[in-house]
Amino acid sequence: MATTNEQLQAAEAGSAGGPGDKIIVRNLYKTFTVRGSVVRALVNINLTVADGEFLAIVGPSGCGKTTLLRIMAGLEKHSAGTLEMRHRDRSKPLNNMVFQEHSVFPWMTVRDNVAYGLMLRGVPKKQRDEIVSYYIEKVGLTKFYKAYPFQLSGGMKQRVSLARAFANDPEVLLMDEPFGALDEQNKLLLQEELLRIWSEHQKTVCFITHSVDESIVLADRIMVMTAHPGQIKAFVKVPFERPREVYKIRATPQYGQLMYSIWELLRDEVLRAKREEGGQ
Ligand SMILES: Nc1ncnc2c1ncn2[C@@H]1O[C@H](COP(=O)(O)OP(=O)(O)OP(=O)(O)O)[C@@H](O)[C@H]1O
Ligand SMILES: [Mg+2]
Repeated sequence: MATTNEQLQAAEAGSAGGPGDKIIVRNLYKTFTVRGSVVRALVNINLTVADGEFLAIVGPSGCGKTTLLRIMAGLEKHSAGTLEMRHRDRSKPLNNMVFQEHSVFPWMTVRDNVAYGLMLRGVPKKQRDEIVSYYIEKVGLTKFYKAYPFQLSGGMKQRVSLARAFANDPEVLLMDEPFGALDEQNKLLLQEELLRIWSEHQKTVCFITHSVDESIVLADRIMVMTAHPGQIKAFVKVPFERPREVYKIRATPQYGQLMYSIWELLRDEVLRAKREEGGQ
């Protein structure tokens, strides 16, 4: 089911990127220099994400997942290799990142936070208001339309950043554990909403998660990373058809097999990361 590291490195590095490809990463490395010593964060990443693909990224803590997304978002520069992000419609943003920790503007109301990207793009007020109310309702914050972030819980702030990303309508959604801080019910609702937005608007999604379950339920393909310094360990294809009914998927034997094979790939890496954290 999984493609091994050697196979995938050869396949990915050798391909120049076809017409249906959206993100093309070749031989990418990232090092940080911290007080004179070099920290290797990413080692030889080769990855092609197709236009409209939903890619989940899993890997132990500290393996470089956020760093990779920040590089894709243009927030960080890679040290070597190449990254190409193909922009289809220049009237829309190329990408939008939803951060691991909720990142809302504390001085703006919920409405203004969600409207921010649309305002920057000069979307007319009437249309902007419609889009903003639609997504605020979708994330269940209609009553908090005029509230400021200090009046909201952590999970609610995270929902504001999600609404802002959805409203912004980028071609690529870069999502860094966006549902990690949410309660179970809101998580389920927003997973469904994300799948709906993704399928209706043909977005490309790169989605970091610590949850193997979430990666299976949402993604077309799962990229498993090694412990620090991050390399790609395997790609696993998720065979379930779309549209998916999450509960039905969980009840199938394939779901159990996938959980098992992804966890097998991850387990050693998580243990290795723990040993290194403990200095053993
Ligand atoms: N700005 C920075 N300066 C120095 N080192 C950094 C910086 N950002 C990340 N690192 C290092 O790069 C490595 C990867 O960090 P990153 O945040 O990408 O991991 P992660 O996979 O997102 O972890 P987590 O699952 O805990 O969020 C870590 O060793 C981290 O200490
Ligand atoms: Mg991270």
